[in-house]
Amino acid sequence: MPKANAVYTHGHHESVLRSHRRRTAADSAAHLLPALAPGLSVLDVGCGPGTITADLAALVAPGKVTAVDASEDVLAEARATAAERGPIDIRFVRGDALALDFPDDSFDVVHAHQLLQHLGDPVAALREMRRVCRPGGVVAARDADYAAMAWYPRTAGLDDWLDLCRRVARANGGEPDAGRRLRSWARAAGFTDVTASASAWCFADDADRAWWSGLWAERTVASSYAPLAVDGGHARPKDLERIAAAWREWGAREDGWFMVPHGEILCRV
Ligand SMILES: C[S@@+](CC[C@H](N)C(=O)[O-])C[C@H]1O[C@@H](n2cnc3c(N)ncnc32)[C@H](O)[C@@H]1O
Repeated sequence: MPKANAVYTHGHHESVLRSHRRRTAADSAAHLLPALAPGLSVLDVGCGPGTITADLAALVAPGKVTAVDASEDVLAEARATAAERGPIDIRFVRGDALALDFPDDSFDVVHAHQLLQHLGDPVAALREMRRVCRPGGVVAARDADYAAMAWYPRTAGLDDWLDLCRRVARANGGEPDAGRRLRSWARAAGFTDVTASASAWCFADDADRAWWSGLWAERTVASSYAPLAVDGGHARPKDLERIAAAWREWGAREDGWFMVPHGEILCRV
């Protein structure tokens, strides 16, 4: 059942942005890259701090890129990221994926990465993305699938982390196991030409384990996720501390391995 007012579970604490800032078009939008060419116009919906957006802009230059996010704070960071990258043409605007403020048929490519899982009505968002994409263009989305995440060694603390993440996300109106649902959501939104694929991030070497475990240990107790988990009655502060400790223990394991699988769709309009 769609929820009109989903809450963005993760918020924009430094520990959350640290995870988003590392993303590139190569590691997060590879399914879209063959459809890009210089001169195409792109809309990036839910752009966050904008590192993927900036990569997309470089790939379609001199094509124009527009990026939308619901948060003005994160848009300020995205503008700064774009400015650091040099002369790339990106217009950043505050907006809602469920009511995009653009005329029909405005863009050649409409993209969203890790957005649909957070929305109360992802099918309505995909309908909006289709509306603003011109006939013959493409709509692309990629989302993680929490239930399919896998790691070694398995510990009770990380099992509890996953269980809590999925409960909090659902209570906030989102769908944490979005990856497997993207194709069905696209069909429900009216797309008939949908290419579905999957790809994964993997964190295993010392630097990646330190980065991944450190940011999850911190965001579990310090990001807006913590009060949502506690005030929603899903966990006590001491449960969050235990989960954060489990992340640090996993990060210290030299044999540690973690996979984040994603579903992807490329829909021809
Ligand atoms: C997980 S982040 C992904 C950011 C970026 N696409 C990336 O992968 O690095 C999701 C972003 O979607 C934004 N967002 C959440 N709900 C939104 C909505 N209804 N409309 C537009 N943006 C939204 C959040 O503010 C957040 O910056």
